[in-house]
Amino acid sequence: MNPHPQADIVAGTAAAPTDEWWASAVIYQVYPRSFADGNGDGVGDLAGLITRLPYIAALGVDGIWMTPFQPSPQLDQGYDVSDYCGVDPLFGTMEQFDELLGLAHTLGLRLLLDVVPNHCSSEHPLFQSALAATPGSPERDLFHFVQGPAGGSDVPPNNWQSVFGGRAWTRAAPDSQTDTDWYLHLFSPGQPDWNWRNPAVGDYFDDVLRFWFDKGVDGLRIDVAHALFKADGLPDTPATLEMVDGLRANPQVSDQEEVHDVYRRWRTLANSYQPHRLLVGEVNLEPARAARYTRPDEMQQTFAFAFVKLGWDAAAWAAVGNELEAAREPQGAAPTWALENHDIVRSATRFGGGELGSSRSRAALVALLGLPGPAYLYQGQELGLPEVDVPLEARVDPMWDRGGVCRDGARVPLPWTADPALNHGFSLAGSATVPAAEPWLPIPSGWGAHAIELQQSDDESSLALTISALELRRKLLAMGILGTDDAGSWRVEAGNLLICERSTDFFVAVAMGTEAVRLPPGTVLLSALPLAEDGWLQPNNAAWVWRGEGWVN
Ligand code: GLC
Repeated sequence: MNPHPQADIVAGTAAAPTDEWWASAVIYQVYPRSFADGNGDGVGDLAGLITRLPYIAALGVDGIWMTPFQPSPQLDQGYDVSDYCGVDPLFGTMEQFDELLGLAHTLGLRLLLDVVPNHCSSEHPLFQSALAATPGSPERDLFHFVQGPAGGSDVPPNNWQSVFGGRAWTRAAPDSQTDTDWYLHLFSPGQPDWNWRNPAVGDYFDDVLRFWFDKGVDGLRIDVAHALFKADGLPDTPATLEMVDGLRANPQVSDQEEVHDVYRRWRTLANSYQPHRLLVGEVNLEPARAARYTRPDEMQQTFAFAFVKLGWDAAAWAAVGNELEAAREPQGAAPTWALENHDIVRSATRFGGGELGSSRSRAALVALLGLPGPAYLYQGQELGLPEVDVPLEARVDPMWDRGGVCRDGARVPLPWTADPALNHGFSLAGSATVPAAEPWLPIPSGWGAHAIELQQSDDESSLALTISALELRRKLLAMGILGTDDAGSWRVEAGNLLICERSTDFFVAVAMGTEAVRLPPGTVLLSALPLAEDGWLQPNNAAWVWRGEGWVN
């Protein structure tokens, strides 16, 4: 018997065939730096993740997605990769990665990695060779090296802005009179963009994918997946120079038609393995455009960014829910639900902060796990962690340095113990004589109140709620009460009661108003907070309601 029952369900009784294991999977996002620190240096690592992996398996999720741990100068916390097929010594060794993968599979967990194909690190050997080569050389053609309009002056090749702030171009050799090339970086200058119009880049990434798939990695999350191709000729953008919403504001750097060929090629590669490997894209576009990346021969999933960004607003949730459903119809893939990740403000804070935000984030979590389609949880979301206001002097996010937005507050190490010793149990090595190093981001006072060990012994905790919801979700999928091909139909009833009808038998309800609201008839199978009165949902509570008969708990 598999120690993790979900594996039996994926392989057996649930409706999805094994090659579509991802169709209603719940994946837990691990940000390795902040999950568990095995060697006591203050930075989370593979050793820590190996030790703590049973905690994730016990949640009842189907797998994990790990953000980058490959060799990197860590300018953008690993999203500046200098070797796509290695392990940064900061995180451990390839032997440890192999051990982690083996253990994950033994525990019934799939393992997804992050691949960063839009850009690499300026320390990547191919970029270093390009810098050392001359303008117009084949080495430079792997990236976007372009002369400015006025030779060696301070005028870059076009008006594009970097997502992290400032211009998207840096001089290759600022002091040279003869080398007047600039190179393109949509993010920081330490992250040069690959030139995907050069076929050698596609070949290079095929090898990267094969390297990890051959090891048995179950899938990939594709970083800034919509940006690989830039408009031919790199013309000025007519759009506003304020990059108000990431890449979306510049139509020349994202969603170019050619990018779809990459995902068709990658899907063929992913499907040449058994079980088929999963491709999930970070495609931060409006629903109709994002849905084009999940056509049957492209990726299986793209995160529903329109949903990730919502505030506590029933009408907005219903509108976005219906828009996502309408967008998926021609393409077939269900929306991939998420409320948090390492780039955005934690939901407990986004939804109001304090007690209010915390109730709402519990309710949102119940809603998330009841929606039709796959879902992603970000580490700490199961604990209801709030965003941390990281002190100015401790901030390390390059986006903060260049653009004024700071993402560090969602990346603070997990509190494992109430006792502050060993960085609240985040560090697994250290003693009275050789204490663990300070964590890479400071842990705020009061962090111990959210500790995993406290929540594990409290039936009413966010952690307990997450585990119950996941357990019930598996059961309902196995019983066929939830289907892998369900579709959502959203509406708002009186009193700001949000309803997502998932099937004729099952709906999710969220009370988003200020008064208690009566639920439509049915049996409440799960609620974020206990019901104050039968059939009524108090504000900021959410429920799963079943209309069938004969439920035996
Ligand atoms: C993605 C990552 C983010 C990173 C950026 C550049 O949006 O999620 O953390 O900074 O890509 O790689």
